[in-house]
Amino acid sequence: GRPRDLAGRKVVVSAGGTREAIDPVRFIGNRSSGLQGYALARTAAARGAEVTLVAANVTLPDPAGAKVVRVESTAELRDAVLAASADADVVVMAAAVADFRPATRADVKIKKTDGEPEAIHLVKNPDILAELGERRRVEPGPRVIVGFAAETHDVLANGQAKLARKGCDLLVVNQVGEGLAFGTPDNAATVLVAGGDPVEVPFGPKEDLADAVWDLVGERLS
Ligand code: C5P
Repeated sequence: GRPRDLAGRKVVVSAGGTREAIDPVRFIGNRSSGLQGYALARTAAARGAEVTLVAANVTLPDPAGAKVVRVESTAELRDAVLAASADADVVVMAAAVADFRPATRADVKIKKTDGEPEAIHLVKNPDILAELGERRRVEPGPRVIVGFAAETHDVLANGQAKLARKGCDLLVVNQVGEGLAFGTPDNAATVLVAGGDPVEVPFGPKEDLADAVWDLVGERLS
């Protein structure tokens, strides 16, 4: 069985992928299934944690033992994560967050016209993970902040730079492409550790990667 090493700890996990509305029926989204985030929430609860799972557009059944907050957009995800993080020990940002959103959302469905379609103007979304790291430098915050990063090339170098830039303690770096990771039950990753050596997690169930993350989190909490 699993250790109960997270008993009494409050953890927040974000999962899934955000959607940014274009009009009442259309959105810009991504292919995140939420499987890895849900595995993190389930295993944390099994290890004794009090878990808030902020789920963006996930169709999976609620994991046992977690409080689930459903969101759609990045703005909603940010509000829910920041609210739940106020008194949390750990935050894990496993959600795929849209980097950009349409500058405006049309009130009515955009109609097909005879001429060329209008361009969709995009603006930047806030980086929630970076914001958590920045806030923690000026006020009390979660002891451990964990990010995820999907990289297609120079995985370790890009990951180390991202770990520093976002001010997180652990960064789970996935190699993506060629049908890896998205929507599949298995994953392989390298967990980059601030001030420590990277930990390789071999290809296997997403639950195994989740447990490897909680092992490292538990070490940093104790
Ligand atoms: O910069 P990049 O998107 O590769 O970073 C991925 C990590 O940052 C993930 O943990 C993701 O949840 C988080 N993120 C965020 N807000 C954004 C973009 C990414 O919190 N706007």
